[in-house]
Amino acid sequence: MPTIKIKELEGDIEVPEGETILQGAMAHGITFGFVCGGNAACGTCLVKVLEGLESLGKRNPKEDFLAKAMMLEPEFRLGCQTVVSNSPLVISIVSLGRTQRT
Ligand code: FES
Repeated sequence: MPTIKIKELEGDIEVPEGETILQGAMAHGITFGFVCGGNAACGTCLVKVLEGLESLGKRNPKEDFLAKAMMLEPEFRLGCQTVVSNSPLVISIVSLGRTQRT
């Protein structure tokens, strides 16, 4: 089963091939942006792929539409739309890296 290392957290998670990054993270109790319910409409599930980008499929049309609207570089992917292959990934969850306003 492929592993995903999340830069902001300790340890790796195992995610079954064919699940999205967001599904895999949530199965391990890791919650991050999910405002639109996984419909590629909000961008809150944004991740930056640090290693393994070449193993991922191309953006699907819904992800591609939002990526263009947000002017995202190729290494930025929507966690709710990006399906894990059989290769390991290293990612950064964008929302976990942001500082909170006080
Ligand atoms: S959860 Fe809204 S774009 Fe992924």
